[in-house]
Amino acid sequence: MKSFNTIASLQAELAQHSGRQIGLVPTMGALHEGHLSLISRAVAENDVVVVSIFVNPIQFNNKEDLQKYPRTVDADLEKIAAVKTSKEVLVLVPSVEEMYPEPVNETYHFGQVEEVMEGPRRPGHFSGVAVVVRRLFDIVHPQRAYFGEKDFQQIAIIRNLLSQIHYPIEIVPCPIVRADDGLALSSRNVRLSAEARAIAPTIYDTLQQAVEMSQYEDVEDVIEYVMSTLSSFHEVTPQPNGLKFEPEYFEIVDDTTLQPIARWDDAKGVVGCIAVWLDGVRLIDMVRFR
Ligand code: PAF
Repeated sequence: MKSFNTIASLQAELAQHSGRQIGLVPTMGALHEGHLSLISRAVAENDVVVVSIFVNPIQFNNKEDLQKYPRTVDADLEKIAAVKTSKEVLVLVPSVEEMYPEPVNETYHFGQVEEVMEGPRRPGHFSGVAVVVRRLFDIVHPQRAYFGEKDFQQIAIIRNLLSQIHYPIEIVPCPIVRADDGLALSSRNVRLSAEARAIAPTIYDTLQQAVEMSQYEDVEDVIEYVMSTLSSFHEVTPQPNGLKFEPEYFEIVDDTTLQPIARWDDAKGVVGCIAVWLDGVRLIDMVRFR
């Protein structure tokens, strides 16, 4: 593994690998098994893998979330170095000034895929993601880029970005990695108190129950079940310190257009996406119905 703080030094290294297949794994660091699964997949499918570690300020619509976002670069580099491979793994760890030497004035729009779920609740978020991902594409020129399905809408946004900028890059969606108790791994999980971490798997349990119910209940009733189960959890199972789930949304959508469906057979692929506040931390998860 080699790490680089400047774009020029990474590009000088990449120049020595011209003609080889490059896989890009964009991350914001605080790496966990989910990220490592993306890196392992990229290592298996490419000659050279570039991992970026950059907490992208322009995708945070909430200042406190940006300040509290975990930054663990030394531990991240150790985890990447421990990935067993004989392939070249290059890690870009740029400063904000290195990524954005000039004020950013690009804005992207994605039509209907950004009008649902995270889009209206995090204004400017997906445009900020697109700016940094495009920048990384321009720096690295990968053949493939790897993204986790936990951020399901982000994958649709990146696909839409590629259709706007016409870069021949394959987007490789990778399955969510979960803790043994079912909680989707996320860099934000470290911010949960022990009590909150103990009940957080309820989100996945409820989603699994929703999949079961989808065999015999309408879409609307399954949505109502998930929202009410989580909202009333603290009434049914009293929690210390006013701890409670505050679901922001649970939407059942077409997996390509991300538009809500009214009946199960309205789309070939159907997923449910959720965002829930717990203990001041916003957790997201998703589950496939069809
Ligand atoms: O999914 C993330 O961690 C970020 O949104 C990404 C893709 C690395 C862009 O900053």
